[in-house]
Order: sequence, then structure tokens, then C-alpha cells
Amino acid sequence: MEKKFWHDRWEDNQIGFHQEEINHYLQQYWSTLNQPIDTRIFVPLCGKSRDMLWLLEQGYQVLGIELSPIAVEAFFQENNLKADVIKHNGLELWSCDELVIICGDFFSLTPESVADCQSIYDRASLIAMPPAMRPAYADKMHQLFPVPRPTLLISMTYPQSEMKGPPFSVTDEEVKSFYSAHFEIHTLLNEDILEQNPRFIKRGLTQMSETVYLLQPKAQ
Ligand SMILES: C[S@@+](CC[C@H](N)C(=O)[O-])C[C@H]1O[C@@H](n2cnc3c(N)ncnc32)[C@H](O)[C@@H]1O
Repeated sequence: MEKKFWHDRWEDNQIGFHQEEINHYLQQYWSTLNQPIDTRIFVPLCGKSRDMLWLLEQGYQVLGIELSPIAVEAFFQENNLKADVIKHNGLELWSCDELVIICGDFFSLTPESVADCQSIYDRASLIAMPPAMRPAYADKMHQLFPVPRPTLLISMTYPQSEMKGPPFSVTDEEVKSFYSAHFEIHTLLNEDILEQNPRFIKRGLTQMSETVYLLQPKAQ
């Protein structure tokens, strides 16, 4: 989507994707990545996700990136965190203890900016993008992490003809096409989520499922 789309969404508080609760797939499956605490986790397109708090509570460091200043400011304010804000290489960095959120465009990141991240938590990034943008997103991830990092990826599928995205439907085949060159792809869970999401039933969906993937780097 155009950047304006997301700026408008945040401006108008149309953020149905935001979860007040910590994501239960994150809590259930993060341990499958076997990441030592004290390591840094990259959270692309982080919004104001409270999942970052959970990761911090487990003892990790977190680096998020989010386009919308409204989202970044809200994250710190709503969680009673005081941010130090600095400009670095044209990007705005909001930080507090072990957390840094870069306020800016994911596509403007450099490998140096994420070099100290050892793993990735990616919820709802691919489904935020129309089909034509997704290959560029996956390519950018490969460029940012020339040495691939273990990733917990949460995505969703539904009959695309029944609803205009976002959220978009992203198939297993697409995930494989983006990541199978560098990762072993393990499907940890595929869950029917339509009943829990009346807003999507109202929008005409007859089926909707969420998939949790573990992307395990292939031996180099
Ligand atoms: C579907 S939401 C997911 C947010 C978050 N991952 C969560 O679980 O709540 C997508 C988010 O990506 C942000 N976004 C979209 N395009 C972006 C870009 N190019 N760079 C950084 N953030 C972007 C949007 O502002 C929005 O907050």
C-alpha cells in the first residue's frame, strides 16, 4: 500500500489489526526459535504492538520499525514508557532501555541498522501489502539479513475474491516462493479464525485461517 494509506489509517484510528492482548501464537511458539535471552529481535512493521513488551519481559532486546509517528508515540505513551528520541542517518529512533523503534520506512533500512538482530518476529507484514509489493518486501528482508535469521512469521489466508485487502490473503505457496531458497519452512499451526472475527464475517468472508510459520535458516 502507499505510505499515505497507512498514515491515514493511523490518523483515523482505523487499526483493527492492533491487538490489546499479547499475541497467543507468539507466547506459544516463540520458544521454538531457541533464541538465547539477551539477544535482539527485529520486529518489522511493528505498529504499536504490545508483543514487543512481551519480548522485552522475556529478557530480549527489541528493534522495531514503523512508518507512522502516531503509532510510535502511542506505543510509548500507552505503555507509560519515556522515550529518548534521536535522529540518525535520516531516521528517527525512539528508545527506552532495551527497546528501539525506528520511525520510518522499512524499505529505507540498511543492513547495518539491523546487523545486531539475531531473530525476527513478523506478524501481519505480508498481509499488509498487496501482491505486487510482497516480493519486494521479501527481497528487502534478504538484503537486510544476508545471513538469514530464524523467524516466527504469522500470516493469514482467506478467499481473496470475497474481500478487498488489507488484510490480504497470503498463500502457503507464496510464503514458500519468498523464503524457501534460504529457509526450511515449518508450519507450526494453521487455525480457522473466522468465528473469532465477526468483523470479517460482516465483510463477507466464508473462510479465514491464520498460519504460524517457523522459518529456520538453511545451513549455508
Ligand atoms: C497490519 S499492521 C501490523 C502491525 C503489527 N505488526 C501488529 O502486529 O500489530 C501493518 C503496519 O505496518 C506499518 N507500515 C506499512 N508500511 C510500512 C513501511 N513501508 N515501513 C514501516 N512500516 C510500515 C503500518 O503503519 C502498520 O502499522
